Amino acid sequence: MQVKLVITTIAFMLTMIVFGYAALREPARMELFEGAYESRQVEFGASIYYSNCATCHGQEGKAELCYDAEGEQIGCAGRSLHNAELLCGEPSPRLVAMGWENGTKAGFINATVNAGRAQNGMPLWGADYGGPLEDYEVENVTNFVLNWETVELCSEPTAPAPVWPDDVADLPSGDAANGEQLYQVTYGCAACHGQIDQEGTNAVGPWAGAFKNRADAQPGYTAAEYLYESILLPSAYISPECPTGPCAGPPSAMPNNFPLRMTIQEMSDMMAYLLETSEFESNGNAIVYP
Ligand code: HEC
Ligand code: HEC
Repeated sequence: MQVKLVITTIAFMLTMIVFGYAALREPARMELFEGAYESRQVEFGASIYYSNCATCHGQEGKAELCYDAEGEQIGCAGRSLHNAELLCGEPSPRLVAMGWENGTKAGFINATVNAGRAQNGMPLWGADYGGPLEDYEVENVTNFVLNWETVELCSEPTAPAPVWPDDVADLPSGDAANGEQLYQVTYGCAACHGQIDQEGTNAVGPWAGAFKNRADAQPGYTAAEYLYESILLPSAYISPECPTGPCAGPPSAMPNNFPLRMTIQEMSDMMAYLLETSEFESNGNAIVYP
């Protein structure tokens, strides 16, 4: 009797120790599970992204490198999504600029993907709007985009992207010497458009030496208006002449994310270098960056 009681007590205590240990470990196990669940969601989001979004928003979401269904490189028609302006800060500068400062980034991306912005070339995706993606798919691709927010991306203070004036007359006067540096090095335009004093040095796009004479490109435009529009909205007008024949597009093969990367002063400086004048002639054409 006595022995039996001792054994039972010991067994009971052992059981309690085992259960207690498991209970202690439970939060850690749950965390691991949730982590795996989240990363599976991001993985699923990635596959939705690469089958539906990368043709316009690019392989890394930066609207720099886009391929069509056959694997041919094409111009990126979408906006960069992988950038500090959209992803860093609460609210991020992009949310403020879009009047979404009281909402979340997830809400903003989710809503844009669901409803699209048809007038600006962003298709609608949500099933509720007649699109091809179910709610959970939109949610997963949203999480995939949000996943680009990293400490590294957000370690620099993020200035909001410039609000580009609609009229070139409202640009500050430019400094051509700085513009040359920006054209050659900082923004790498020379790699595609060549040297302005040497015809035929352009490898990919039209020769930059002729930009100052392109007032004829669109009816009623000045050369400054055309240059400004070409940088802000590369797909608005596709140039007829590239080194290997007519230029491809739309979308243009020229990167469309310069407006998110450069300042208004840098734009003026580069224009001053290319047009050989520090003040820009305007015919009053409105060039509206969305
Ligand atoms: C046919 C090209 C195209 C495809 C495909 C496309 N987009 Fe877009 N997307 C755009 C364009 C163009 C804009 C910019 C619209 C504007 O400026 O108002 C945009 C804007 C966005 C924005 C808002 C960004 C901002 O800063 O305002 C998000 C988010 C976005 N797209 C996500 C996606 C996702 C996710 C997919 C895939 C499910 C996708 N897009 C597929 C063209 C596309
Ligand atoms: C990856 C190559 C590439 C880079 C880099 C590039 N462009 Fe382009 N650019 C092109 C292509 C291709 C076209 C022709 C298609 C079009 O009209 O959009 C073009 C067109 C233009 C045009 C219209 C030219 C004309 O005669 O009609 C201007 C102006 C221009 N780019 C300026 C710039 C400036 C300034 C930079 C640097 C901030 C730059 N580009 C960077 C490829 C590039």
